[in-house]
Amino acid sequence: MKILHSLAVIGVVATTGVGVAYAAGALQERQTILKGFGDETRPVVHMLKGQEPFDLAKVKAALATYAAGAEKLPGLFPDNSKTGKTEASPKIWDEKAKFEGLFAKLKSESEAASAAITDQASLKANFPKVLGTCKACHDDFRIEK
Ligand code: HEC
Repeated sequence: MKILHSLAVIGVVATTGVGVAYAAGALQERQTILKGFGDETRPVVHMLKGQEPFDLAKVKAALATYAAGAEKLPGLFPDNSKTGKTEASPKIWDEKAKFEGLFAKLKSESEAASAAITDQASLKANFPKVLGTCKACHDDFRIEK
């Protein structure tokens, strides 16, 4: 099952007969990636608030995680993954282009921020914009439970 999931996620196994496994795998995989976003964001938010010293390696790691995740995530919301244990809003499937556009935006903003950030001042100038895109998508497309 594990292997099937990872293959499904990278798009190798998407043929008939594994449809259900594919949906469950996509749902789980996207939540794992997004949970990772949350875990890597936490220390950076502490830095922004001055509760943790500036650490460029952690900032860059978070931004690289966002950029890599933003590439994979659009493919992890197949039509058959609307229901189940998910906070995904049904609006995602009505406004796919807008939804996927926000992931593209997250990726380009993360790459730009990674190039621009060198210290606490440039962190404050550039990181909140990236977080704004997380929020923009959550406001529209996530139903927090
Ligand atoms: C284009 C839309 C979009 C963007 C951009 C986005 N998210 Fe999300 N996020 C979602 C959706 C949809 C869910 C719910 C997924 C589900 O439950 O199936 C979610 C769920 C989450 C979760 C909960 C994961 C879990 O299941 O434990 C966290 C944490 C999270 N996002 C953090 C972030 C952070 C941090 C960013 C920005 C770096 C971000 N997200 C950017 C759409 C987005």
